[in-house]
Amino acid sequence: MPHLWNTLPRPLIGLSPMDGMTDHPYRHIQKRYGNPDLIFTEFVRVERLIAGEMKLLRELLYDESQRPIVAQVYGTAPDAFRGVAVLLCRLGFDGIDINMGCPSNSVAENGAGAGLIRTPALAAEIIAAARAGVYDWQKGATAWDVPGLAPALADRVEQSHARLPAQYRQPRDVPVSVKTRIGYDHPQVDEWIPHLLDCAPAAISLHGRTLAQAYSGSADWSAIGRTVELARGSGTLILGNGDVADRADALARADAYGVDGVLIGRASYGNPFVFCAHTANPTASGPFVAERYRRLSIAREHLLLFEKSLSTWPGYAFQRMHKHLSCYARQMPGARGLRRALLQTVDAAGAIQALDAYLAYRDHK
Ligand SMILES: Cc1cc2nc3c(=O)[nH]c(=O)nc-3n(C[C@H](O)[C@H](O)[C@H](O)COP(=O)(O)O)c2cc1C
Repeated sequence: MPHLWNTLPRPLIGLSPMDGMTDHPYRHIQKRYGNPDLIFTEFVRVERLIAGEMKLLRELLYDESQRPIVAQVYGTAPDAFRGVAVLLCRLGFDGIDINMGCPSNSVAENGAGAGLIRTPALAAEIIAAARAGVYDWQKGATAWDVPGLAPALADRVEQSHARLPAQYRQPRDVPVSVKTRIGYDHPQVDEWIPHLLDCAPAAISLHGRTLAQAYSGSADWSAIGRTVELARGSGTLILGNGDVADRADALARADAYGVDGVLIGRASYGNPFVFCAHTANPTASGPFVAERYRRLSIAREHLLLFEKSLSTWPGYAFQRMHKHLSCYARQMPGARGLRRALLQTVDAAGAIQALDAYLAYRDHK
């Protein structure tokens, strides 16, 4: 089977990983209605997976419609990355992405995520360890062979493995990539990117902000353009990310900065159409009745899948769906009332009732 990154269109337009957002139901809906070329899971901490934290497997749920799908992981312990790489291959992922960009205190302050920008030697060790794990799997390792892995979690992974289509149970090339930022407290692509390129990741996705900026200001696409120059001839693909509004914007930026692809994150909230070629962005195109039905029928499908696929997991709360419902309601006529009604719901039946009531009322006006 060919290497994932070589099978993708250029420029590729993918759904950026977003913790708390890009879970299984969200990815399914985005793929179905927007069809991004590539999808990432939320990030998962490798040390916690190895320790057997079963609920983390929820973040790694996916279905076959979401391929190609890359699992994103983070942490600081190379051995844990090696073991988790075996798990991810056994779970059938098409690629493994290492987060070196998260700015949140709980992640970066203990050296993971964007914290790794300050420890390039450890970053290199982690990439090598993940690749060694893929190699272990290609040589026949299973979850049961991962040193220190909690047995119950290994059993669950192997049960999922047994249900995979045959072609994903065979040894194949599962590439290791990195997602990062342009620097820690100042733009430093000229030092940081060559370090990463020395490790030959299959791809680098670059968010054009520093850790210190978090999400403030605007993404520096000139630093992304500079990264493309640094990577020329290396074999590593460069994906730009940050503040991309929709597909047309992604294509324009790919053209202007020469990136191999673009990731879109926040603009996809409540709106898979950001990935579509000729579909107007519903948030910008006004309150047409047909369009309103379309977005709300997607919301309905999303919330039903949310309840169906996640309600049996420990700690489930329908309220985690509220942020998505609020985004679907955005810029609808009478959005405030609709949102208020949706945010009071505690299950899928209640949310559907609120949607139906809204549509019935609006249609009579
Ligand atoms: C709520 C939220 C959660 C995020 N979680 C992750 C994550 O788990 N892994 C990651 O690499 N980036 C994460 N990001 C960063 C996004 O992938 C992306 O780099 C950033 O939002 C900029 O792209 P955008 O302007 O298109 O949203 C997150 C961003 C947001 C807003």
